[in-house]
Amino acid sequence: MIMNFEFFNPTHLIFGAGSLSRLGAVAQGVGKRALLVTGGGSVKRSGVFDRAVASLQAAGVTVTECAGVEPNPHIATVRRGVQTAREAQCDLVIALGGGSAMDAAKVMAAAALEQRDPWEMMAHNPAGYRPPAQALPIITVPTLAATGSEMNNGAVISDPEAKVKTFVQAACLYPHSAIVDPELTVSVPTDQTAYGVCDLITHVTEGYFNGADATPLQDRFAEGVILTAMTHGPKAVANGDDIEARAQVQWASVAALNGWVQAGANPAGFPVHMIEHTLSAHHNITHGAGLAVVNPAWMRFAARHNTPKFVQFAERIFGLSSNGPDDLDCALAGIDRFEAFLREIGCPTRLSEVGIGAELLDRYAADTLTGIVAYQGKLGGRPPMAHEDIVTVLR
Ligand code: NZQ
Ligand code: ZN
Repeated sequence: MIMNFEFFNPTHLIFGAGSLSRLGAVAQGVGKRALLVTGGGSVKRSGVFDRAVASLQAAGVTVTECAGVEPNPHIATVRRGVQTAREAQCDLVIALGGGSAMDAAKVMAAAALEQRDPWEMMAHNPAGYRPPAQALPIITVPTLAATGSEMNNGAVISDPEAKVKTFVQAACLYPHSAIVDPELTVSVPTDQTAYGVCDLITHVTEGYFNGADATPLQDRFAEGVILTAMTHGPKAVANGDDIEARAQVQWASVAALNGWVQAGANPAGFPVHMIEHTLSAHHNITHGAGLAVVNPAWMRFAARHNTPKFVQFAERIFGLSSNGPDDLDCALAGIDRFEAFLREIGCPTRLSEVGIGAELLDRYAADTLTGIVAYQGKLGGRPPMAHEDIVTVLR
């Protein structure tokens, strides 16, 4: 049944082609001195950076740049941004980029206001998880459809030296506004487009398969997101200039992880994400590519424990016929079809394809379990996963 829930999402979403031009006017009402956080240079090559700065300056908002946020953003880069924001006395943080730039910007915004090291805010903190209570206002302008970070309260940060990738969630990290302009995504390369489609679908499958039973409306929301991504994702992969496909995929990516789809289904965990984060921490792989490897394997493991939901997935997403809710063959056939879809759009589905061998599977399982204080020995999900379950899925 639908569980009791609260829904809170204060982010003002401005969606549509051309909406980047609204940036200055939106920022004007929020702050005067913006820290503008960007990635490794794509926004400069595409001209989007210049357009954003021009819009801000025309509105009287001064800009201090924090460029160079790397994929799987590093805590050292977050610290650099915090220092820059403090020195420039920024009163607003704007992220212009993919999930990495947005996540880094969020944690910068919190640490710039709270006088403590940003790494202490993360869930991995052995002294206890103490997320921030306040942050400078944040505006997100995503250039890649994938994470949904533009309209949620989460951020994921890595320490490559310690091989740790960890998250933080806090109400103060909801962006004030999200300017979601699909035109900014036309320059995303084919592989990143596909990985983004996989990421957004996985945000929904995590809740769908790890949530409560008998949540018919949430199931239909989730299936709507998946079917939209599966219809329009391949078009965006095939023709990056297809603005209609880009727009449909980007709206799906926002809807997938702004809290609405998961409300009342209360997912017991996001196990595929947690396992993937360990792989990214060790090997710096792209998040969506890692998910494409882990998700079908996890599904085959979980289908034996929650067969009716996987049968429903096979029937409603792929139109397969079953012999009833316990038809494991049908459930597994649906997973095969899902994996085939991922391969068709160009995602890897084996560890070897992302350059990961079998030597360290025990280490990945151990790190996944010890990484988050709250796990208490098992990875949350349906079913909860012990060490050997994680190894089984990875193998
Ligand atoms: O760095 P630049 O030069 O901008 O290039 C990026 C990067 O190389 C490029 N790119 C982005 N927009 C582009 C573009 N290239 C051409 N044209 C554009 N318009 O794409 C590459 C990947 O960028 P990145 O920001 O790393 O990708 P994504 O948006 O997939 O973000 C991934 C990060 O978000 C975290 C992931 O773990 C990972 O660290 N996640 C954040 C979540 C959240 N905050 O809610 C949830 C997710 O599950 C995820 O964990
Ligand atoms: Zn994700």
